[in-house]
Amino acid sequence: MIPQKDWVRDLVIYQIYPRSFFDSNGDGVGDLPGVIAKLDYLSQLGVNALWLSPFFASPNDDNGYDISDYRAILPEFGTMADCDELIRQCHARGMKFILDLVVNHSSDEHEWFRKSVKREAPYTDYYYWRDPVDGHAPNNWASCFGGSAWEFNEERGQYYLHYFSKKQPDLNWSCPALKAEIHELIRWWKARGVDGLRIDAISYLDKPADFPDAEGAPMPDGYVFPSLLTGRPGTHAYLHELNEKLFTPLNLMTVGEVSLRCDAELADYVSDERAEFDMAIPFLPPIAEYGQHVPTMLRDRLKTRYDVVPGGWWAQFMSNHDKPRQVSFFGNDGEFREVCAKALALVNHLSPGTPFVYQGEELGMTSIHLSSIDQYDDIGTHNDYRQRLLAGDSPEAAFKFAADLSRDNARTPMQWNASANAGFTTGTPWLKVNPNYVDINAEAQTSDPLSVFHFYRRLIALRGAHPALKNGDLQMLDGGNADVIAFSRTAGGETLTLAANLSDAPHAAPQGLTGEILLQSHERESGFDGVTLRPWEAVLFAAKG
Ligand code: GLC
Ligand code: CA
Repeated sequence: MIPQKDWVRDLVIYQIYPRSFFDSNGDGVGDLPGVIAKLDYLSQLGVNALWLSPFFASPNDDNGYDISDYRAILPEFGTMADCDELIRQCHARGMKFILDLVVNHSSDEHEWFRKSVKREAPYTDYYYWRDPVDGHAPNNWASCFGGSAWEFNEERGQYYLHYFSKKQPDLNWSCPALKAEIHELIRWWKARGVDGLRIDAISYLDKPADFPDAEGAPMPDGYVFPSLLTGRPGTHAYLHELNEKLFTPLNLMTVGEVSLRCDAELADYVSDERAEFDMAIPFLPPIAEYGQHVPTMLRDRLKTRYDVVPGGWWAQFMSNHDKPRQVSFFGNDGEFREVCAKALALVNHLSPGTPFVYQGEELGMTSIHLSSIDQYDDIGTHNDYRQRLLAGDSPEAAFKFAADLSRDNARTPMQWNASANAGFTTGTPWLKVNPNYVDINAEAQTSDPLSVFHFYRRLIALRGAHPALKNGDLQMLDGGNADVIAFSRTAGGETLTLAANLSDAPHAAPQGLTGEILLQSHERESGFDGVTLRPWEAVLFAAKG
């Protein structure tokens, strides 16, 4: 068994989507100097690790998740000197720096792909190339962004596999030279000071040699998602090897983004015996959560995941760059926005594992309502719209669906202050700013002690003071109502209990809540009355013994 890196369990990780964080030079695009400029804000919040979505050279077909040079910075984002400086300044503030490693696929504009097209050694087999079968693609697999997962390349006279967009060809890990390149790449970034890796779409590395047709219901465009691609034994072998050769010896923290067919598969990536990742981000497309009864979904998830993962450690997040904003998607972004943001934060940070905060979540930022499909940038949103039209939806219904689930909801620029463009840029922002920035912004909230920002700050600070938050066992409690989620965490003679009403209606509070109140969502009003949980009222108790 490989020993735990003990520092990993002290992290609270803040995710930055660099394109939308802060623009330092007025070109409308956030950048690395912009991140440096805001490090004091992040220190004040109290997070101790930053994960930046990709900032490498990229043609931006999927906003940086299509990398054309893993050792170069996208000029819009700055220079390698800026990156070095950012890492240095993070370390000077006691923050870890986490890189987004996207190695299931590269960009088709990567030199490796260009040379692979020409069958130049050693790049010939760096990607999955197959001859046409009866003049068609080798199988029926769907790509995540629509259409076939295969694209014909005229020059090479073969199809290549792209599980994501056709500008994101899958890298062939069974090619030893390619695998060695990736190992070398990890060493290279470690040497630059990187402390950890968030590893993108990593449950698909190994592919079946015979590429069988996928079974299951086709997408409206006729292709079928290959669920057989997820979590294959060969993938786990690659991950275990990475851990043994790199992650553990280099003391690199790792969080893998993994697709699961069922929650039990989570253990395959994070249990100590497997020695693969320190933790995992279970990926679910927003459609899987759309229209669900949120408290039930969260409760069931917590229960099953805690049962299957010994010690109960995984990435705790409600938001990221692939999901709508949590207050809008899981809660109430109108009348109850502020208390809802606080209640959801409590549920997330009290759950076992490492809490993640996605930029703007600490302000209770909301999803955006744009008026037409061409105002959306996200490749996934355009695909959702097309698929719904093919399925027979009216343009209005297709648009509503695509907009509700759009990843752009989380990608609108960070709201810094009430000046033009939310203080994000002095130029024209690459994506529209949410007009509610006038009311919801960092400047207003840092100067208001009862804001969502200060609530997050206090919540994050509690982690250092209460070991139960880090190491506590989880016990689910009966909230007495389907809309109320209640659980406790116990360690070192202390029990922390959370009761949270995740709905717009008042409900009777669960029986037997005792202890000192550490935090409560309704800070602007009178405190918890011991009888009723108001809409989105969440209360955290601490009891000794
Ligand atoms: C991951 C990323 C997502 C990206 C995809 C392909 O799911 O989080 O943004 O589109 O992988 O790289
Ligand atoms: Ca810029």
